[in-house]
Amino acid sequence: MAGTVLSERDGAIAIVTLNRPDKLNALNAELLAELEATFVALAADPSVACAILTGAGEKAFAAGADIAAMAGMTTEEARAFSETGHRVCSRIERAPFPVVGAVNGFALGGGCEIALACDFLYASDKAKLGQPEVNLGVIPGFGGTQRLARRVGIGRARELCYTADLVGADEAKRIGLVNAVVPAAELMVEVKKVATKIASKGRVAVAQAKRVLFGGADIPVDVANALETQAFAHLFGTEDQKEGMKAFLEKRAAAFQGK
Ligand code: COA
Repeated sequence: MAGTVLSERDGAIAIVTLNRPDKLNALNAELLAELEATFVALAADPSVACAILTGAGEKAFAAGADIAAMAGMTTEEARAFSETGHRVCSRIERAPFPVVGAVNGFALGGGCEIALACDFLYASDKAKLGQPEVNLGVIPGFGGTQRLARRVGIGRARELCYTADLVGADEAKRIGLVNAVVPAAELMVEVKKVATKIASKGRVAVAQAKRVLFGGADIPVDVANALETQAFAHLFGTEDQKEGMKAFLEKRAAAFQGK
């Protein structure tokens, strides 16, 4: 591992940091490989209840795919790079635990796309987000056209992708791109608070909520509702359901085992 991605633990919370601060955490092949390996390892670790994804340094979450690395790519190399980006975003999106993005600065191009693969985002008041690829004669290649439209609606996604305009944190919150705006110095404190809250709940239930919210999003609603029923019923075979309901009836806090 070259250290372009750092992974640490705070109890049941995994904290993953994109770590090329001198290049504003621009996403090159090495970083994408490390990010994928990190999420593969975390997905296999049942002790992880929630993850936080952020960027090293004060300026950027990630200022995009690495333009220096992309500049000389052939069509075939670009296809492979895009497929890699899609695979990494999919790993984040399908992780069996929520991933909260802490957008600590620029999240541009591929950086915005990686952020969009997170379950939801909190942003520093200094954050700027956008898909400025058309400035470079290309388009988003890691799923941004699709995930941005699903997050903020097709009209706003079109405007952002066609104009290359960046949005500041407040505007990002207004359009639903981020859930909360926090003073830069408090971003990780606030993100850890929400991650800790998530980690305190029934872990299997949270994982099923994620699975159904994601899996139901792009299929007919009656099929999605059937997915929900299936997951709801499945949870009644878990220890956490028994403990959660028993604790409520006994007027005490639940002691979930994640089973
Ligand atoms: N790819 C490769 N390198 C990048 C990068 C990217 N997407 N974004 C920033 N960097 C590098 C810069 O080249 C610079 O490297 P250097 O010090 O070796 O010259 C370093 O990161 C710092 O960036 P710099 O441009 O000097 O910082 P700034 O504060 O003046 O500007 C930005 C910040 C984000 C406005 C500017 O870096 C930028 O426009 N980046 C590209 C954004 C983009 O188009 N992303 C989409 C890519 S698909």
